[in-house]
Amino acid sequence: MKMYSSSASSLRWTGFFLIFTTFCCLFTPVVMVKHENFKTCDQSGFCKRNRAYADTATQLSPGWTSPYNLDPNSITFKDGQLSGTILKSVGTAGETVRLPLTVTFLESGTARVTVDEEKRQKGDIVLRHDSKAKKERYNEASKWAIVGGLKVSTGAALSRETEAGSTRVHYGSSGQHEAVIQHSPFTIEFKRDGETQVKFNDRGFMNIEHWRPKIDKPVPENNEGEERAPEKVKEETDEDESTWWDESFGGNTDSKPRGPEAVALDISFPGYEHVYGIPEHASGMSLKETRGGDGNYNEPYRLYNADVFEYELDSPMTLYGAIPLMQAHRKGSTVGVFWLNAAETWIDVIKSKASTNPLSLGVKSAVDTQTHWISESGLLDVFVLLGPTPKDITQKYGELTGFTAMPQQFAIAYHQCRWNYVTDEDVMDVDRKFDKHKIPYDVIWLDIEYTDGKKYFSWDPLSFPNPKKMHNQLDKRDRKLVAIIDPHIKNTDKYPVVEELKSKSLAVKNKEGNDYEGWCWPGSSYWIDCFNPASIAWWKTLFKYDAFKGTGPNTFIWNDMNEPSVFNGPETTMPKDNLHYGNWEHRDVHNINGMTFHNATYEALLERKKGEIRRPFVLTRSFYAGSQRLGAMWTGDNLAEWSHLAASIPMILNQGISGFPFAGADVGGFFGNPSKELLTRWYQAGTFYPFFRGHAHIDTRRREPYVPGAPYTDIITQALRLRYQLLPAWYTAFHEASIAGSPIIRPNFYVHPDDEKGFAIDDQLYIGSTGLLAKPVVTEGADSVSVYLADDQPYYDYFDYTLYSGAGHHTVKAPLDKIPLLMQGGHIIPRRDRPRRSSGLMKWDPFTLIVVLDSAGNAEGTLYVDDGETFEYQQGAYIHRRFQFDKATKALTSINIGESGAKTAAWHKTMAKVRVEKVIIVGALDEWSGKTEVVVSEEGAKESARRKKVGFTYHPAQSGRAAWAVVRDPKVGIGKGWKVDFS
Ligand SMILES: *[C@@H]1O[C@H](CO)[C@@H](O)[C@H](O)[C@H]1NC(C)=O
Repeated sequence: MKMYSSSASSLRWTGFFLIFTTFCCLFTPVVMVKHENFKTCDQSGFCKRNRAYADTATQLSPGWTSPYNLDPNSITFKDGQLSGTILKSVGTAGETVRLPLTVTFLESGTARVTVDEEKRQKGDIVLRHDSKAKKERYNEASKWAIVGGLKVSTGAALSRETEAGSTRVHYGSSGQHEAVIQHSPFTIEFKRDGETQVKFNDRGFMNIEHWRPKIDKPVPENNEGEERAPEKVKEETDEDESTWWDESFGGNTDSKPRGPEAVALDISFPGYEHVYGIPEHASGMSLKETRGGDGNYNEPYRLYNADVFEYELDSPMTLYGAIPLMQAHRKGSTVGVFWLNAAETWIDVIKSKASTNPLSLGVKSAVDTQTHWISESGLLDVFVLLGPTPKDITQKYGELTGFTAMPQQFAIAYHQCRWNYVTDEDVMDVDRKFDKHKIPYDVIWLDIEYTDGKKYFSWDPLSFPNPKKMHNQLDKRDRKLVAIIDPHIKNTDKYPVVEELKSKSLAVKNKEGNDYEGWCWPGSSYWIDCFNPASIAWWKTLFKYDAFKGTGPNTFIWNDMNEPSVFNGPETTMPKDNLHYGNWEHRDVHNINGMTFHNATYEALLERKKGEIRRPFVLTRSFYAGSQRLGAMWTGDNLAEWSHLAASIPMILNQGISGFPFAGADVGGFFGNPSKELLTRWYQAGTFYPFFRGHAHIDTRRREPYVPGAPYTDIITQALRLRYQLLPAWYTAFHEASIAGSPIIRPNFYVHPDDEKGFAIDDQLYIGSTGLLAKPVVTEGADSVSVYLADDQPYYDYFDYTLYSGAGHHTVKAPLDKIPLLMQGGHIIPRRDRPRRSSGLMKWDPFTLIVVLDSAGNAEGTLYVDDGETFEYQQGAYIHRRFQFDKATKALTSINIGESGAKTAAWHKTMAKVRVEKVIIVGALDEWSGKTEVVVSEEGAKESARRKKVGFTYHPAQSGRAAWAVVRDPKVGIGKGWKVDFS
């Protein structure tokens, strides 16, 4: 959800859809984001000031000198940490501002640079307007975002070769990293193996807006005043002060009690042409330049979580979530920076011809990417990750901010949502229709209308009189219900939730320190402040089964509107001078706000009933670095248009490489009615979203998969079955994300980091480490797609084994009923082939293994299986196997790669009867033609079954299709060690 429908706009929408229905396909509706509701850089004082600062530095260059100097006498180095004081020169009288610096070298090879401001740190400042806000720069972002990886390096050491004017530190696992800190002006170069990868303040844009008292300019009244004024005012008026003390936008005034306090820094990546990351934006994966020019943006990428309704594509505008992680990539190297700041942030990107460095031509790109990061408040706190591979970046970033929570299995199956299923009967009817049409689904969703007058934790007594019965029907097929719970709490009488929120003082406060009241779905509302530990404790009580009556173990939660969306607030969110727990201003914590609410709900679902421990599932719209620990996200309110279908792929890929891969987009498009063709193609694409949910706006027509009829319903059903068939592969990819931070769907550059032609490709994807390569159709009327192959391995069509080989583009047929999906040679893909009504019903089903041979005749793959529900996998209750086909020995083997724990044996016993029922070998060897049996052996099998023969069928290659073979029912246990001998 949602659109902000004032009555005028919903009238407009109703009218619009009437017309739309009448003319249906005659014209394409033009819906546009309301640009005037959101700031441009020019309208955001600190962004404008810092861009102007950068322009001045650039214009004066090389005559420009950054006024930041590290005092050499202040430098100390101890236990992997360098400390010192940066002196910022202000004015002409030699006056300086003291900025404490720490550079921490971590065991992981990551460096962290933190700059604070002494006066604010000590609280030695005066707030205006009698503000109760904290005086310090916000220093708790790490408390929310960081969960590990901070172990300090024991090997980091000052370099013995000293040079006047700089300090060098060697660090990294074998001392291969080096930080060269120049004192005057202050800059840092981060090197790996002697080559510079990342530079700080190279262009001199570093800017820490220090505290100063507001000086009301004297109004010159007489000669004396005129003489004195210029000198005093001169120093201040060098800069544009107009947005220092208060700022208005869209009828709201920000009182800014601490004055200007932005932090900014230029970060350059020499020799890197591509930078990725910093979601969430509706833009391509390889980031564009932002300072104008052909095909470039004119605005910086913005991170300021907001309910941007009817968002625009190919735009650097902010959206609902923010992950300030950027990675730069070139052949042979990937590096990253993580800008740990929760305030409004803008990032400029420009690319320029590489500065000529004859020593370092080689694999480097001829282009440098230069970025400029600008945040409104808080510390300057940046992590530098030196790779050298894309995998290293996602792994090390994950060690810092946490890995994806291992979801329950149902959560990665198909979800059916709309705004709204209007009654409990409606829900049960939709459920029956899925069954009637034999369409699999796991979860049905309820949007805001299920509540009694938008009071969360209640049911509308007329439309949902019997939630228990509804849950029970769903449970018969192991299905779940997800209900929405938002952070705005209705301000109304006789609503215990709001009464407790107020009496316990757990709401976000306004600048005066009273409960902040604003407007959202329920009308007048308060917002729970989940920065407060007491709020989390209270929130937990609301989800207990006996508190949220009508819910049960198969109820899960959707957190929407948690940017937060405030209909009458500036930029549809909270005033920046609102106060949170600890008296931090909203300005400081804005981008983390959504994550704290998501966190509270996650924690609440852990404790709904004593002794019951199921993995929570909570979907969020707003997110920050670390949200991956808590659940899934989706890309918000998209449109039922082909362009939005296309845009979903790069957006979800970008989430994956930015540490939050459990991502999806509303299948079908939220606003508007998709054509049947668009709906069908969207389901086919959605099959490849890690989070796979159909959703629709309240003003749209019903569009459940059984609605469009022949042939569409059948085609959509096939797409859904494909998802269910491949759930073992998806689940294994999620497991990998949960232990290594790897993306679940992966872009070309991540899988083939040295393939320069593929660096900007963001319209095709690999599923985990399976070698499955999909290129969803995202255009109308297509009957083929062009798939890019990065290497010379054989690639086989998933459905008919048509062979494609040779690096470059290949045309793959894609009529409406065909999903372009290839298998890269060299992999073994686990699946479950029996169609079922939900994933829960597949629990004891046998497995099929697809062995896809590479050009050398080898293949390998992994499988992870646990109970799909509980946390017992943490005690070893899982199966983790590596399957390997080896050309030399002509054998397929299954090897344990799991570790044993207290619950391993019991889980293996439970799974003892679950077997492999089929092995398909694609690219089968010629020598197998005529072969009719293979020999199977299994560990621990009875003597008589130790070497048993099972049937084998060989199908020769024909008309472009590869040879393939089938091992019929080897009956080996999925959790067992075994061998199939083809010799
Ligand atoms: C949620 O937040 C609390 C308080 O900061 C923290 O202790 C807890 O670990 C968080 N939960 C998760 C799953 O990150």
